[in-house]
Amino acid sequence: MNKITTLFCQFLLLILLTRKIVSGSSLHSNTYEQLHFLETFENSTTTNLPLHEWEPTKQKNYHGSFVRKASNITDEHGDDYVLVAEKAGYYYGYSHVFETPFSPINDDHGLVLQYSTTFSEFITCGGGYIKLFYKFKPKKLGQKTNYAIMFGPDICGGNNNIHFIYTRKNPNNKNLEERKLKNPPQAPMDHLSHLYTLVLDRANRFQMYLDMELIREGNLLDDFEGVHHPSMDDPNDKPPEDWVDDYWIRDPSDLPPEDWTDEEYVIDVDAFTPQEWDVVQDGEWEPPLIANEKWKKKWVQRKILNPEWRGEWEPRKIYDKLYWDDRTPYKLDTIYGIGFEIWSVNKNVFFDDIILSTNDHKSLIWDYAEKIWKPKYNTQLKNQSLLEN
Ligand SMILES: *[C@@H]1O[C@H](CO)[C@@H](O)[C@H](O)[C@H]1NC(C)=O
Ligand SMILES: *[C@@H]1O[C@H](CO)[C@@H](O)[C@H](O)[C@H]1NC(C)=O
Ligand SMILES: *[C@@H]1O[C@H](CO)[C@@H](O)[C@H](O)[C@H]1NC(C)=O
Repeated sequence: MNKITTLFCQFLLLILLTRKIVSGSSLHSNTYEQLHFLETFENSTTTNLPLHEWEPTKQKNYHGSFVRKASNITDEHGDDYVLVAEKAGYYYGYSHVFETPFSPINDDHGLVLQYSTTFSEFITCGGGYIKLFYKFKPKKLGQKTNYAIMFGPDICGGNNNIHFIYTRKNPNNKNLEERKLKNPPQAPMDHLSHLYTLVLDRANRFQMYLDMELIREGNLLDDFEGVHHPSMDDPNDKPPEDWVDDYWIRDPSDLPPEDWTDEEYVIDVDAFTPQEWDVVQDGEWEPPLIANEKWKKKWVQRKILNPEWRGEWEPRKIYDKLYWDDRTPYKLDTIYGIGFEIWSVNKNVFFDDIILSTNDHKSLIWDYAEKIWKPKYNTQLKNQSLLEN
């Protein structure tokens, strides 16, 4: 083969390879199967994956039941289905137990949790979050069921948070402790299907995305309430009785000028008893009050630094007996299932496109978001702008 032919053959091979890769990536059935868990709620032509078994809780008070419904967003992938919490004012519990438990503790691969939720009615009070569960009984699912992660929007009145809470078993007392993201971001309150993504990585860092945009990132220890530190404030320590913590005081030596008058009204000295005044009938005559021209409001002493001030009082530090050196909070204990345990005052909260997998599949999860979630979101956006115009 001469040089040109060799080049030509290489070129052909390259074309063939590229075609193979392209057709491979459009054949989602092969790729999305790698994900630990994916639920679309439809027998989708795009994923070709079967629906999973979901089970309602039998816990008392949990009378809300989820239904699978057409979302009525139809695109080239066919009919889209969603899971709907249909009724207003109920507790809902619904879960799926994984065929194979998910074990972040045994490997170094981190975790990605992604799903979409829609408040299709105006939300006044309700949860739109998802939970990952430690070993649990689906029939007994309730508020107290031990979870590994709670993630997603929770809105009630003026409180609007995208919660991220994870739990750790404290080796000192074996209690499961909640660690809650400080100052969580706010969730949108419109009627679109928003995509929530949470990533935990092996550097003990987390990233939170809303509609594929990064909205928060941080450290799994530094940015959470409920993490124990070696030293803590002694809750029994109190300031001494004579502790002075007023930084400013009024200057007692700051006296008003001699001519200062703070009487707003004075007796009218020019007034005289009217001629027709009859003391017997009208009583003793009294001069009227008039506005005091010299009136200067109330004298306020200036502020000075308090010479007795002893500084901000701080309780003494003691060792926190519950402290432990948690080096790998991203390695959560084995997760057995996924589900919803929510309360909603409003009806028609939708869930869809649920994925749990390791960090190794992050680009595949992004691919799913791009190809399957985003077109639906864009359809809704278009619909919304059509309605507004
Ligand atoms: C999904 O497909 C399977 C296999 O074809 C079928 O048995 C099942 O009823 C379908 N489920 C729904 C909800 O359409
Ligand atoms: C989709 O439309 C059908 C028929 O109008 C309706 O019954 C169903 O509730 C709609 N789905 C949702 C999720 O609103
Ligand atoms: C478009 O908007 C109408 C009116 O709000 C609504 O009934 C319908 O479900 C929307 N369709 C989609 C695809 O969002």
